[in-house]
Amino acid sequence: MCGIVGYVGSQSALDVVMAGLKRLEYRGYDSAGVAVPADGGLAAAKKAGKLVNLEKELVDRPLPTGTTGIGHTRWATHGGPTDANAHPHLDNAGRVAVVHNGIIENFALLRAELAERGHELASETDTEVVAHLLAEEFSSCADLAEAMRLVCRRLEGAFTLVAVHADDPDVVVGARRNSPLVVGVGDGEAFLASDVAAFIAHTRSAIELGQDQVVELRRDGVTVTGFDGRPADVRSFHVDWDVSAAEKGGYDYFMLKEIAEQPKAVADTLLGRIDASGLLTLDEVRIPVHELREIDKVVIVACGTAFHAGLIAKYAIEHWTRIPCEVELASEFRYRDPILDTRSLVIAISQSGETMDTLMALRHAREQGSKVLAICNTNGSTIPRESDAVLYTHAGPEVAVASTKAFLTQLVACYLVALYLGQVRGTKWGDEILAVIRDLSHISGEVERVLETMEPVRELARSLADKNTVLFLGRHVGYPVALEGALKLKELAYMHAEGFAAGELKHGPIALIEEDLPVVVVVPSPRGRSVLHDKIVSNIQEIRARGARTIVIAEEGDEAVVPYADHLIRIPATPTLLQPLVATVPLQVFACELATARGNEVDQPRNLAKSVTVE
Ligand code: F6R
Repeated sequence: MCGIVGYVGSQSALDVVMAGLKRLEYRGYDSAGVAVPADGGLAAAKKAGKLVNLEKELVDRPLPTGTTGIGHTRWATHGGPTDANAHPHLDNAGRVAVVHNGIIENFALLRAELAERGHELASETDTEVVAHLLAEEFSSCADLAEAMRLVCRRLEGAFTLVAVHADDPDVVVGARRNSPLVVGVGDGEAFLASDVAAFIAHTRSAIELGQDQVVELRRDGVTVTGFDGRPADVRSFHVDWDVSAAEKGGYDYFMLKEIAEQPKAVADTLLGRIDASGLLTLDEVRIPVHELREIDKVVIVACGTAFHAGLIAKYAIEHWTRIPCEVELASEFRYRDPILDTRSLVIAISQSGETMDTLMALRHAREQGSKVLAICNTNGSTIPRESDAVLYTHAGPEVAVASTKAFLTQLVACYLVALYLGQVRGTKWGDEILAVIRDLSHISGEVERVLETMEPVRELARSLADKNTVLFLGRHVGYPVALEGALKLKELAYMHAEGFAAGELKHGPIALIEEDLPVVVVVPSPRGRSVLHDKIVSNIQEIRARGARTIVIAEEGDEAVVPYADHLIRIPATPTLLQPLVATVPLQVFACELATARGNEVDQPRNLAKSVTVE
């Protein structure tokens, strides 16, 4: 949420910062701005709306060239998306500029204090107070890093701040509490950004900033201290993907590219985790085996799409391990006083590793003495840093706001955890576990096959572009798939979409069915738990009898559904628990195509941001 870039080096700071912002625009696109110390002063420009508006502004009113600069792309919290509320914010003398991600909770108090001291604040944002406070502190210490430390000690809330000062034009200073900030280290240049994507074109050497740290960037080096001024330990890492991974690669939208990348993402997440004898080797799960054997409860915390992955994981974990598993929306978790202890394993699922609700849930779990395992896609992000162990998904960067490949790889990681728990604890499902591990190792080919047959789904989506509502039904693991299908449609097509457990239909939602209402039904395999299959076939008949237009997603060879399907989408036969890996893909394609047909922004849906770093 909000993208931040800082640069100091010998290139044009504006060019570097604007290119970085372009890569971070997925984090927020309500407004954008830049500031460059140059010619003894500070030049700034900012514009409401997408980055393109700022680009135009810089053409109409060019800024002087400088080699130090900062930039911001905003997802509005305090204050609407206007030019005045856009970042950077400057002090009254226009000597210091600051950009911010997060929320400063005590800003009203600080604002009142500043007003009393004669400061005039021009925006409605919480950020502006920081510019004024930095100016005050700098006027007495003449050291921007020290000024930042002093200011941070007075701030409450979650924040990443990056600042420049006209009187110290070769320095960029950043501070981090709870919101993400990474440092890129180049040759004679250094970068600061919310995400490595912003500087990956220049360097793949990165430093992870820890909680409550301040970093000072100069051309010849980077200094990191705590808010207390003491030198801080930092972790360096190498970014293992290159700039092409963060580009569209010929696709119209990142989302289309990311949907297409799913077979590889799934295969990469399995890579090196299954040994030659078909057993799982999850070395990263550094929780000792004897502790895993003692776990008596699993609690999964996550938000949005990651929560849906968690709902599917529950079926797998309970079936393969017989350990009770709860799945909780991270935003609700800590507020209901959950019952946890040292024998509970909490699994936090997050693509970004920065979602504040999930982070707060995992902190709460650790305070109760529970072990926390993160399933995460972003190396060096906060959630894995604060967990006891992490299983990384290897989806590569996911840029489109709507999650696709991250979801499939989260599912794979959840299956791996469930199977691994089953393997180390030993259950009566030993043979099934071995068979499923074998099936998993072929599943990326099945995802590929689904992708090859998506043209009819796209056609169908286009034909439904003028509908107002679509419902989604599923049973067993098909139920979270239905929820995920509905979420994708809401966020991309801005349509009323709801997912239901098909068995719940008769308890209320069936009243929604009317003539020609599209209802997508995810049908479980007729093999295995065929009773579920038969029940959902009855549900399809019930809704069709009431006029629904049925869109049926069913396994190849399932003939029982044919008479009741107005539209039939075929998916490969897979073991029941793995079906979401193939059944979700048509729903992603469906939502993406509907969004395009309705003229919506696919990669950057309205009001959303990729990484939600506020509660
Ligand atoms: C929906 C979507 C969101 C995220 C949610 C959690 O397409 O992307 O619902 O899944 O905001 O984000 P992470 O996984 O980064 O914690």
